[in-house]
Amino acid sequence: MILQEEMMILSNVKIAPRVFRMVLQGEMVADMTVPDQFLHLRVPSPDKVLRRPISISEYDREAKTCVLIYRVEGPGLASVSQMTSGQTLDVMGPLGNGFDLSLPFPNQKALIVGGGIGTPPLVQLARDLADRGVAVTVLLGFAQKSAVILEAEFAAVASELTIVTDDGSYGRKGNVGILMAELDMSTFDAIYACGATGMLKAVASQTADHPNAFISMEARMACGMGACYACVVHVAGDESGQESLKVCDQGPIFKVGEVVI
Ligand SMILES: Cc1cc2nc3c(=O)[nH]c(=O)nc-3n(C[C@H](O)[C@H](O)[C@H](O)COP(=O)(O)OP(=O)(O)OC[C@H]3O[C@@H](n4cnc5c(N)ncnc54)[C@H](O)[C@@H]3O)c2cc1C
Ligand code: FES
Repeated sequence: MILQEEMMILSNVKIAPRVFRMVLQGEMVADMTVPDQFLHLRVPSPDKVLRRPISISEYDREAKTCVLIYRVEGPGLASVSQMTSGQTLDVMGPLGNGFDLSLPFPNQKALIVGGGIGTPPLVQLARDLADRGVAVTVLLGFAQKSAVILEAEFAAVASELTIVTDDGSYGRKGNVGILMAELDMSTFDAIYACGATGMLKAVASQTADHPNAFISMEARMACGMGACYACVVHVAGDESGQESLKVCDQGPIFKVGEVVI
């Protein structure tokens, strides 16, 4: 069920340049059951009418809390970053399909690939897979050391964790595409990726033949719930160019090869 709620801000702290970790509490958390759904946040500025979509990084249904990790790109999220504990935030959600956890099975292997601010929604995914007895290999890429986030969260549940930075200032030098090329994709029963468009293209090209490879897409959004068609992406292989899918309610998770990245 999609709800709208004034959620309580328990904390909102800076964890990296322009990146903030916000903990929210509210009844809506009861409906959070799959990783990488998102919340649509009303920005606390009267001149900003469009909500901002932010993925749910983690949730705890018992404590009725969830974590959002967001990077300020413009004035909308800049005003959210100024909010403090004790204030409330107008939130719609949970929205989107989220990652399908019916695969892989216990004792199978999963690969998680994350880039930059695309890493937050993969935390809950990694945790849920590990809880089911799946061995999780995690590859994370960031621009530089100061941008590295969530290492401890992934390290706590991953069988293997490798971090790369573009400039080599932390972990290995390079990008996750290079790391993927060193692995045999067919040894993983499922593959999941979230990150910038360039990274998703690299993942898609290396997993084109894999039956269970999934990507989390982004698009500019308005309504966030399937009514306005602001967020469409094209269906792959559609020669007419007319077929599209909505990222907000038919995504943001798609199978590799399903949509044009
Ligand atoms: C399903 C979904 C989940 C997301 N999850 C997260 C998350 O967990 N953490 C996070 O930091 N960001 C996430 N984003 C991106 C985030 O919604 C945008 O960065 C945010 O709306 C920008 O708001 P702003 O007020 O900071 O900047 P604005 O002033 O709105 O925009 C600043 C710049 O960012 C660009 N921009 C705005 N929205 C998007 C978008 N959706 N995709 C690409 N570029 C955009 C604009 O073109 C502009 O150049 C997600 C987006 C989607 C669609
Ligand atoms: S944002 Fe309105 S249909 Fe997706």
